[in-house]
Amino acid sequence: MQALILAGGEGTRLRPLTSTIPKPVIRLAGRPFIVYMLEWLRSHGIEEAILACGFMAEDVRAVLGEGTDLGLRLLYIHEPKPLGTGGALRFAQDLLRERFLMLNGDVLTDIDLDAQLAQHEATGARATLALVEVADPSAYGLVHLDEDLSIEAFVEKPGQATGSARRSRAKAAAGPNLINAGVYVLERDVLEAVPPTGTRSSIERDVFPRLVGKRLFGHRSQGYWLDIGTPERYLQATFDLLDGTVRLAMRARTAQAQEHTLEPAMVEPGATIAQGATVGPYAVLGPAVTVGEGTRIARAVVLEGATVGAGATVTDAIIGPRSRIGSHCRVERDVVLGEGAVLQPGSVVADGARIFPGVVVSDGAIRS
Ligand code: GTP
Repeated sequence: MQALILAGGEGTRLRPLTSTIPKPVIRLAGRPFIVYMLEWLRSHGIEEAILACGFMAEDVRAVLGEGTDLGLRLLYIHEPKPLGTGGALRFAQDLLRERFLMLNGDVLTDIDLDAQLAQHEATGARATLALVEVADPSAYGLVHLDEDLSIEAFVEKPGQATGSARRSRAKAAAGPNLINAGVYVLERDVLEAVPPTGTRSSIERDVFPRLVGKRLFGHRSQGYWLDIGTPERYLQATFDLLDGTVRLAMRARTAQAQEHTLEPAMVEPGATIAQGATVGPYAVLGPAVTVGEGTRIARAVVLEGATVGAGATVTDAIIGPRSRIGSHCRVERDVVLGEGAVLQPGSVVADGARIFPGVVVSDGAIRS
């Protein structure tokens, strides 16, 4: 079985991290994010993955290579312009076999693909979408499933629906909050519903709704599922990996107790922590990160090569690679620093501020 992984989006919601690093290869708890997905696919017997790239395609290939270490064959295709999720499927058509998986490349999950495939086979579906139940569906569209597991309707994001969509939503509201998990088993003939080559389209909005009533099924998948496309969810995924909430066989490799760490925490090789500093709980230091004396880092990720000066506090934040935080800075509450950003000593950055790559914040306080 082969898998087509969509890895070509710009990842605007994860800026400024994605200003210099494509989303699939941003490090998440010790490895390029998409490696978790590739290992999960491998554990379900997938042998070939086609990475549909666009934005910063060469950087994705440079990090992942041919996939030999992962026991997979990786193929890359490079869209010359963004085609959307439907256009990416059309663009890949020459490489696709009769049945294949298609996945959003920003999903961290351990759901059971074998069960989804078995249902696909049993129902004679042309497409089976993994559906997961979420407590708060406000950021997603809902999917309404019939008793025979066929998909009856896609419902707009709660709060945005009008007219007939509102009626469908009322119907769906009685059932579970099922959302599209971005993991599909497809028969090649779904291509009949995809706009022609070179046309931008969305598989979620333009293709699947056209297939309702035409052997389109949903599989209620159990297990961990999170899309890492926003800073909040990237941090949540990090914490869940540290906790072992997601069953992806890396727990042993993550939380390693060290002097100065409060578990769960992860300190990658080459990171150094000075006297009196504490790292954790829920903190990751990437390779070659340095943390100064007396500094406190909790519920935060500090990516490779960044330095955090003495007496600083970093909480609930993502610190981009090679950025420099001066002594006695405070970085807190959903801040994201891009690659190579500099905070001069004593700066305070808070409340969701995003500091773009290479920007220097001079001494004093700024807040978002
Ligand atoms: P945002 O800009 O933050 O919305 O992120 P995104 O660009 O990743 O878009 P979105 O989260 O909607 O994309 C879902 C998945 O589809 C991600 O894995 C994207 O990489 C992928 N994707 C989105 N657009 C394209 C595209 O034009 N081509 C390809 N190959 N993949 C895409």
